[in-house]
Parts: sequence; structure tokens; C-alpha cells
Amino acid sequence: MNVSPLNPRVSHFDQVDCTNTKLREMTDLGATEGVVIVAGSQTAGRGTDQRSWHSPVGGMYLSALLRARELVRVTDLSLLAGATLAEAVGVLLPKSKEVSVKWPNDCLVGWKKVGGVLCEVYKESEHPLVIVGIGLNVNIPPEELQPFEKNPFSVTTLMTEKGGEAFDLGHVTGVVIGKLFSLYASYQQRGFGAVKQIWEQNCRLLGKKIEVSELGWEGKQESAKEQRVEGIFEGIDEEGALVLLDEAGGRKRYYSGRITCFWP
Ligand code: BTN
Repeated sequence: MNVSPLNPRVSHFDQVDCTNTKLREMTDLGATEGVVIVAGSQTAGRGTDQRSWHSPVGGMYLSALLRARELVRVTDLSLLAGATLAEAVGVLLPKSKEVSVKWPNDCLVGWKKVGGVLCEVYKESEHPLVIVGIGLNVNIPPEELQPFEKNPFSVTTLMTEKGGEAFDLGHVTGVVIGKLFSLYASYQQRGFGAVKQIWEQNCRLLGKKIEVSELGWEGKQESAKEQRVEGIFEGIDEEGALVLLDEAGGRKRYYSGRITCFWP
């Protein structure tokens, strides 16, 4: 498809309850694809799995209004945002730092979580608008970082990873938005293959042993009991599903779930 790249139209707020909620309200009032809002802090930041997202001054909090190719392909944008975030962090930190996207869209540095993505469909339709929320711990002082409840990862910030040197938050935000819209343009022109390529380039867990836990697999909910399966993380497929190679050489595809890594 030949689509001209979309330019982000960015608005800044000192503080909001939640950038995703704010962008939803703005979309109700007519905001269109390409609108981005950035906030200095959030009073009711939200994470995945109904968790809150601690959002003091010093973090980057943004939401962008993008469009999925189809309703069933909303996860394309979630993986797109995860790949973008890992790419941006990789550019911002010294090369010696091990930056990785963790399926589907967490961003890790040295195996600690530095950022995450929360995507929400605005209204279900054939080509739905999706609110893509991205949070990144940039200059938050270590004593203000709340360990993520029920999350096996410890957390970090860009500043900590650079030996305590603060980042220019405006520059960091610009790099993330630039990469987001550049990958979005490739996605519009070339489809999900463009996202898969950048996602896999920024994943350091490929070929490693992982454990996947979820309720059922292959898209089916097999039982209410949590299933845990170990295997080698082969990559993501054309639908964005995680592909796991088990000990018997069989392949399983996961469309949702959580992965635990056996760290090197
Ligand atoms: C996660 O749990 O990993 C997802 C975190 C997503 C946080 C971002 S910050 C901008 C947007 N507003 C929110 O309240 N959440 C997302």
C-alpha cells in the first residue's frame, strides 16, 4: 500500500490522570489519527493486567492515536510500540547496555524493566483507532521507583543505567515519537513484516530457554488452570504470536500470556 507518512501532532500537559484516558476524551471531541499527548506526570497511570503505573515527574508518559489494519490486528500496534521503545532505548543508552523487548512489549535493560506499553481500542470498527500508551522510566530517582507488584522483574531507569546522569526528557520523548511514527509508516507500507523484523532485531531472548504461562494456548482457553510450558523462544510469527519450540521439537504458538526467562 502506498500511504504518505503521517506527521505526529503533539500536545503537552504538565499533569493528567492518565494520558490514555485524556486521549480518549480528546478523540471523543474529534482528535484524529496522528495526535500524540505527552504528560509530565500522571495521577492515575495505568499498566497492563489492571496494575497501576507509578508516574512521578521525571518519567516519560505519552499516548498516540494510531489505526490498526483490522480489528483482529490490534496486537500489531502493541508489538510495534514495544519494538519502538526498545529501539529508542538502545539508541539513547551506551552500546554496552543490554536492551531488549520482552514479548509482547515490555522494555528491559540488563533484564530490568524500564518501560512498557498499554494499548486500548478506541471504538471497535473495521479499522479501529487504537490508543497506544507508552511509559518509560527516564529520570525518576531510585528511591521513588516502586517495585512492580507481582512482577518478577526489578525495575530501572535510563538515568540509573547511565551512571546517574540525567537525560533531556524532551530529547528522549522526541526519539520515541520519531521511531514510533517511522515504524508506523513502514507498517502502513509493508504490513506486519516490517514490525516483526524490528521487533526480532531488538529481542535478545530469541534462541533462549523461556517459560510461558497462560490460560490455554493456540488461542483457546483449555482450562481455568494456569499452564506453564518451557521451551526455546524461536520468534514471533506473522500474527505476532510467540513461537515456542518444546523439548520434543514441537512448535506452540501463544497469543497471550506471560514469559519468564532463564537469565544467562
Ligand atoms: C505496563 O504495565 O507495562 C504498561 C505501562 C504503560 C504505561 C503508559 S504511560 C502512558 C500511558 N498512560 C498510562 O496510564 N499508561 C500508559
